[in-house]
Amino acid sequence: MPKALDTTDSTKGAVQVRAFRPKKDSKAMYAIAEKLPEWFDEDALEVIEEDLDECPGFVAEIDGVGAGFILYYSPASIPAPSRYELIWLAVSPKHHGKGIGTALLERLEKELISLDPAAELIVWTEAESSRSKHYAMTRKFYHKHHFEDWFIDASDMEYWEVERLYLRKRLGAEKPKKTHVSRRERRRIHHQSKKDGTDGAEN
Ligand SMILES: CC(C)(COP(=O)(O)OP(=O)(O)OC[C@H]1O[C@@H](n2cnc3c(N)ncnc32)[C@H](O)[C@@H]1OP(=O)(O)O)[C@@H](O)C(=O)NCCC(=O)NCCS
Repeated sequence: MPKALDTTDSTKGAVQVRAFRPKKDSKAMYAIAEKLPEWFDEDALEVIEEDLDECPGFVAEIDGVGAGFILYYSPASIPAPSRYELIWLAVSPKHHGKGIGTALLERLEKELISLDPAAELIVWTEAESSRSKHYAMTRKFYHKHHFEDWFIDASDMEYWEVERLYLRKRLGAEKPKKTHVSRRERRRIHHQSKKDGTDGAEN
């Protein structure tokens, strides 16, 4: 069990989680992502650099030094009013396993519930078929935090090179608002997923 962290007090040794400030934090957070080549290749780093300019999130600091970050999209690319997407989560390797990823995730969850009592958080990561032992740890982290496996996306393998596992977690007490997907859109998703070999999960 990772040690419980103090996320509110900035006294020595404590971890502080605060809102991400692009101008102030981007460089240091990018440097953390660069230290994780087993997870983030050059293409991913390029996207991380762009997202650090544009997306909201939180950073974790230990004695004022950046130790990790979490970024999210709202709304997620898949249409649903209460669906938020965790897009990047990274903790400096020397601090892995100390509860910092958990502190960042908990802070984000708290934020999303306060924004939307029906909030649902989704994330995708490499599926088991990629055989990466590093991403096996990542999936373990999400499962430990009660994300459920949702569907495997095997589309566009030339671009992604791996199957992607989507996971989701309902955060608030309220049921997610009913998503209106037109019959025509349902048919399009159905045909697309048959073509791509995904299970067509659109809800
Ligand atoms: C995944 C990650 C954010 C977790 O943050 P963390 O601070 O190391 O994790 P915590 O200490 O809060 O939680 C520990 C739990 O996470 C899991 N875990 C995942 N990666 C781990 C790692 N590298 N070291 C230790 N535990 C890890 C374990 O299940 C562990 O619990 P257990 O020891 O009881 O099995 C972090 O390890 C990381 O940056 N990994 C590389 C980048 C990545 O995978 N990002 C997500 C991409 S989708």
